Amino acid sequence: RAGSVTVLGSLNTDFIVTQPRFPRPGETVQGNGFATMAGGKGLNQAVAAARSGATVRLVGAVGDDTFGRSLVDFVAGEGIDVTGVAVLAATTGSAHIAVTAAGENAIVLVAGANGERLRLDDGVRAAVTDGTYLVTQAELPLPLVTEALAAARERGIVTVLTPSPVSVLGGVVPPGVDILVGNELEVCELADAADPRAAACRLSASVPIVIATLGGDGVVWAIDGAIAGQRPARPVAVVDTTGAGDTFVGALVARLAAGDGLETAVDWAVLAASLSVSRAGAAPSIPTTEEINALLHLGALTEER
Ligand code: RIB
Ligand code: NA
Repeated sequence: RAGSVTVLGSLNTDFIVTQPRFPRPGETVQGNGFATMAGGKGLNQAVAAARSGATVRLVGAVGDDTFGRSLVDFVAGEGIDVTGVAVLAATTGSAHIAVTAAGENAIVLVAGANGERLRLDDGVRAAVTDGTYLVTQAELPLPLVTEALAAARERGIVTVLTPSPVSVLGGVVPPGVDILVGNELEVCELADAADPRAAACRLSASVPIVIATLGGDGVVWAIDGAIAGQRPARPVAVVDTTGAGDTFVGALVARLAAGDGLETAVDWAVLAASLSVSRAGAAPSIPTTEEINALLHLGALTEER
């Protein structure tokens, strides 16, 4: 039986404004669209893993408000176990996202309920030490994240960390991480390096597998201090890159949990992330197994010609 995936992380309502370009301080620009969508790194990763076929449990918190209720309904509708999502007397987390015509984004994050739960209580400990993989990020309080990683590692669970937002980590990867998946900025900051490949190599001296996602430049991974593999990106028309990294991680872990090797899982995750970039929003843009398979077969056909 395929292993199960526990995601410990944030749930946010994403308030997305599309606009021709970012305003300068003090400037007003005319936007051309607004939408509210499900998001948050934890939620996105859980949805990506579930849509890639994994058995998933999400552990986190929302506020006791309409936003929180609709996020929980959305996640439950994906077949994800939401019994570990607490409803707290706080506002639901929110991300205020500006997306430009070029597909770049800038995000203001308000933690709300995601910042409230400060301790690894018994319920959370039980949840994060159940399953084969634990996936987490840095949008929940850091002590909770680090304790969860340690507790999971102690139980032999494979731990996966997205070091985002990287500023929260103070330049260090918390102990107990088996697989670190960061973008260029994140790995460079954590390794104090200017080049993401060098950064991945440096970080892999203490983390078994370090994967750097480089947007249009694809993905590279390092093991034991050296580059162990790389893949180009799949060229797509960029609509919205929000959540692409989360999609990559969720899809990757789903395939690893199903027993795939790292290279096969990375190939799958690259396709998932590429599809998500070609569509608006974070969670709603995450592709299903059927959609990824269709792209996989399309690629095989093109290569045959
Ligand atoms: O990683 C993308 C996510 O970051 C968005 O969905 C937003 O909620 C922020 O948490
Ligand atoms: Na998207």
